[in-house]
Amino acid sequence: MTNGNEWWRSAVIYQIYPRSFSDGMGDDGLGDLAGITERLPALVELGVDAVWLSPFYTSPQKDAGYDVADYCDVDPIFGTLADFDAMEKRVHELGLRLIVDLVPNHTSDQHRWFQEALASAEGSQERARYMFRDGTGDTGELPPNNWDSVFGGPAWTRTIHPDGTPGQWYLHLFDTSQPDLDWENPWVREQFRDILRFWLDRGVDGFRVDVAHGLIKAAGLPDYTPPASGGSMGGGIVGLEPEIVANAELDTPTPPYWAQERVHEIYRDWHSVLEEYDGERVLCAEAWVEPLAKLARWVRPDEMQQAFNFSYLETPWEAPAMRKVIDLSLEAFTSVGAPSTWVLSNHDVVRHASRLALTAENPQGHGIGPKSPGKPVRELGLRRARAATALMLALPGSAYLYQGEELGLPEVIDLPDESRQDPTWFRTNGERYGRDGCRVPIPWEAEAPSYGFGPTGKSWLPQPADWEPYARDAQRGVAGSTLEMYRLALAIRTQHDLGMGGAEWLPGYGDDVVAFRNGGVTVIANTGEAVVELPIGQVLLASEPLGDGILPGDTTVWLRS
Ligand code: GLC
Repeated sequence: MTNGNEWWRSAVIYQIYPRSFSDGMGDDGLGDLAGITERLPALVELGVDAVWLSPFYTSPQKDAGYDVADYCDVDPIFGTLADFDAMEKRVHELGLRLIVDLVPNHTSDQHRWFQEALASAEGSQERARYMFRDGTGDTGELPPNNWDSVFGGPAWTRTIHPDGTPGQWYLHLFDTSQPDLDWENPWVREQFRDILRFWLDRGVDGFRVDVAHGLIKAAGLPDYTPPASGGSMGGGIVGLEPEIVANAELDTPTPPYWAQERVHEIYRDWHSVLEEYDGERVLCAEAWVEPLAKLARWVRPDEMQQAFNFSYLETPWEAPAMRKVIDLSLEAFTSVGAPSTWVLSNHDVVRHASRLALTAENPQGHGIGPKSPGKPVRELGLRRARAATALMLALPGSAYLYQGEELGLPEVIDLPDESRQDPTWFRTNGERYGRDGCRVPIPWEAEAPSYGFGPTGKSWLPQPADWEPYARDAQRGVAGSTLEMYRLALAIRTQHDLGMGGAEWLPGYGDDVVAFRNGGVTVIANTGEAVVELPIGQVLLASEPLGDGILPGDTTVWLRS
């Protein structure tokens, strides 16, 4: 049931990564639900419309909560269901919306369903919940096929019978501790309808759906060798970089574990579950799929409302590529009546304040660490990040922000090896650093222990010693700070209703410039080094100080049209 308002079409949605947002319980240097509830007013002040929480469910935390052992409870490290209810109430009192993460592709190996499957006979109903298969080779000693895990290493693990003899293999597209469910099984579908209703009944406004391109695997699980350039998070259809795949190229090869056509019947089903509820509940797909025209299938009118635009995220800071991806995005999403989304950072990618100044190729998920080539210059990264954000927030559609980007936080590159926790790091024997560098607890107060993250001074990943200037209280009210730039951009975005507007290209600015008009605002982004002459107009927002009538390099300006 919709009432015609459709808040999600233009919403700015702020991603909270619970373990790194705020440690309200003050126990272990890990963020929690109480910490979120306490700090929500800061997000109202920032000016966002909604929050999305990464998983806080019962979990052994082998993949930071994306390994769920109970979908309908809160892990004690984050609090209780009562803490969730208190947070949900506060979110809504403050006029925000609440989206939670749903992880349907796999469970934790500690989930009761998987434990029961392991304890049951081959061919049993319990085993049929997951993807158990006999091995190949003379004695089943080889995996059922050649698929690799997204985190590195084989996608199959062999089980051991209680008497110590080897048994069947099970599929895990991610870590060994994350067995894939079998979505061909109606029992699995029924469980997830119940899980959706559990959280909808508690008042959530929607779900961010993890690995929404992976649930259905091709019949027979055929062997597949991905092209050499694919990014690690699956790379969607092919590696997403460096070229943006044109919408016309719909025939790009599809791995047998991603983007199978029949996955859509699941989202049609969920769409109808959400329709049982009032209040415009939404589904947002985390689907690494290219081209955008194919991704748009996830947001057809009877499926999901939104899909993350990773093509946009992966576009280099170069005006021709930016113009192209914006065009392709608007074309693809508009063709199915959905809003485009825009995103620059999340918990799986190098923070854009560092990524946009990398000088060596860095496939998604590999991360950067002390030995990485092409490390970014911090000042350049921040300058480009501010310009890129100012461009993004002027685009029509819905935008996602990742906690800490409003502070201009860089990726933490020099984390000590022994502090790293991403399974990618372990599964590749340290060859890929993984995603910990964007997950370091965020700084609130320059002078407090752990920068105000929690009262104990502890933090589950070490915070850099030079983060005082990034702390929220050091930027609050300081004109020109990154925090104040975000606040101003969000206020103007609301005032001019840019999210519901359009983008009309303005020609004549040269190759290094992205220039368009969205309603009453003219947006000019200079991705090059040479200065650009500005038209006469009142400056509403500038990502850096402007020269007299001049737009410097790596700077974005909003002018009153
Ligand atoms: C998604 C999540 C990522 C997680 C993976 C497996 O891509 O964003 O953090 O590791 O799924 O659940």
